[in-house]
Amino acid sequence: MTGDPGVRVRRIRADEADALREIRLRALADTPLAFGSTHGREATFPDERWLSWARDSAAGAAQATFLALDGADAPVGLAFAVVDAGGRNAHLYSMWVAAEARGRGAGAALVAAVLEWTRAGGARTLRTAVTIGNDAAGRLYDRAGFRDTGTREPLGHSEAEVAVLERDLAA
Ligand SMILES: CC(C)(COP(=O)(O)OP(=O)(O)OC[C@H]1O[C@@H](n2cnc3c(N)ncnc32)[C@H](O)[C@@H]1OP(=O)(O)O)[C@@H](O)C(=O)NCCC(=O)NCCS
Repeated sequence: MTGDPGVRVRRIRADEADALREIRLRALADTPLAFGSTHGREATFPDERWLSWARDSAAGAAQATFLALDGADAPVGLAFAVVDAGGRNAHLYSMWVAAEARGRGAGAALVAAVLEWTRAGGARTLRTAVTIGNDAAGRLYDRAGFRDTGTREPLGHSEAEVAVLERDLAA
C-alpha cells in the first residue's frame, strides 16, 4: 500500500463491485469532461459488468484497478490500468479523487501504484490522456514523469480534446 497516513491506496478486491460502481459513477457525475465515457452510459451497465471489472482487476497481469481509501476505509479515489496484448504498452484510465480528499497526495499515490504495477509486469510505456485545460491533472502527470506525445484526440462526447501523454517505464 502507498500514500500518506490519511489516504492509502491498494488494489481492488474481487468482491468490491458495488464500491467500484459507486465511486466510478460519482467520478463521472463530478467531472464529466475528464473522461471519455459518461455517467449516462455507465449508469446503465448491468451488475455483471461491474462484477467483471472488479474481478478482472483484482488479480492477474492484464488489468488492475486501484482504490484510494480515507482514514475510515471509504473509497475516495480510483485508477484503472490495462496492459495491451503482448505486455509492452499499458494505459491509465479513470483517474479520479473525490473533492474532499484532493490535495493530500491521493492522486500521486494512485499514479505511483499504477507505475509500480505496470513496471512490475514488464510493460515499457504507460499512456494516458488528459483533457486540454485540466491543469490539475496535467500537473499530476507532469510530476509523475509523463511527457506530452503531441497527439490530440477528441474526448468523444463534447467538443473537448485530450492530449495523449506517455511515461517511459524504464526511466
Ligand atoms: C487530478 C486529480 C486526480 C488529482 O488528485 P489529488 O489527490 O488532488 O492529487 P495530489 O494530492 O497528488 O496533488 C494535487 C495537489 O496537491 C498537492 N499536494 C499533494 N500532497 C500534499 C500535501 N500532503 N500537502 C499539501 N499539498 C499536497 C500537490 O503538490 C498538488 O499541487 P498542485 O495543485 O499545485 O499541482 C483530482 O484533482 C481529480 O480527481 N480531478 C477530477 C478528475 C480528473 O481530472 N481526473 C483526471 C483525468 S485525466
